[in-house]
Amino acid sequence: MKVRKAVIPAAGYGTRFLPATKSQPKEMLPIIDKPTIQWIVEEAVESGIEEILIITNHQKSSIENHFDRSLELEYFLESKNKYEDLELVRSISNLANIYSVRQKEQKGLGHAILCAKTFIGNEPFAILLGDDIVVNQKVPAIKQLCQVFNEVNSSVVGVQEVPKTDVSKYGIVKPINNINKSKRFSEIVDMIEKPSLAEAPSRLAVLGRYVLTPEIFPLLETQTPGSGGEIQLTDAIRRLLDTQKVYAYNFEGHRYDVGNKLGYLEATVDFALAREDLKDEFMELLKKKVNISVRETIK
Ligand code: UTP
Repeated sequence: MKVRKAVIPAAGYGTRFLPATKSQPKEMLPIIDKPTIQWIVEEAVESGIEEILIITNHQKSSIENHFDRSLELEYFLESKNKYEDLELVRSISNLANIYSVRQKEQKGLGHAILCAKTFIGNEPFAILLGDDIVVNQKVPAIKQLCQVFNEVNSSVVGVQEVPKTDVSKYGIVKPINNINKSKRFSEIVDMIEKPSLAEAPSRLAVLGRYVLTPEIFPLLETQTPGSGGEIQLTDAIRRLLDTQKVYAYNFEGHRYDVGNKLGYLEATVDFALAREDLKDEFMELLKKKVNISVRETIK
């Protein structure tokens, strides 16, 4: 069955970005001039997803507004003959069928996904975390997972290897077979949320992209709080393993955790260096800054 629907959970508090996120969603923080969540919606659209549900909360109406028409702004741009900007603004509201639902209490990622139950119904669906951007110019990450789903007809979690020092930050999988460049996916036998290095069954971390079967929903409904006192999606997927196969797929692409300050800065620098209108001047600026800081360190 084709994966037609995607869920983007974006209802978290974004505490790592306070005070910026006190009254504005971290998903609206721009990477240069485009909000993070728009990069993610575009990945879903380029992957053939037709309907997108964004999980928000009462402080995140700017996300809903961003994907809606803005008639006053359109009128203003038209009256000033700013047709390029007008086209840009209009194109955002035409990206896809975008819906939203509010998570009334921030009880964790698993609980956020449960809010999508009615929207998803009885079909497989994609999940793209609202603060993870993955760049792959050829095949978008979630499209890669959808292709694997079509092959194995079971849930697929997107993974990449992380350094030993980082395994305690993620859900870590235990694959049956080695995952490497020639064989990028394997069935998994276990999955642990934020394990210590000693407990971690591998260094393969689930990094913000999933395709799941709808059988995850009854498990989420009965899922008790886990790591951090939150209802964890990883714990429900672990229980899904009792009745269905789940695969880990090592997706190709550079992943930026933009919910974290360094990841955000890295994305900003890389995206600026990839932009024709910015890269030369920005590179000069970076060189100047690096030279100054090297000279200051030498002093
Ligand atoms: P994170 O843990 O990265 O987001 O959740 P957070 O809680 O907003 O961030 P910090 O740690 O406080 O800075 C991963 C994704 O799941 C969403 C977040 O919005 C983010 O996109 N999420 C998390 C929810 O939608 N609801 C929740 O209850 C928790």
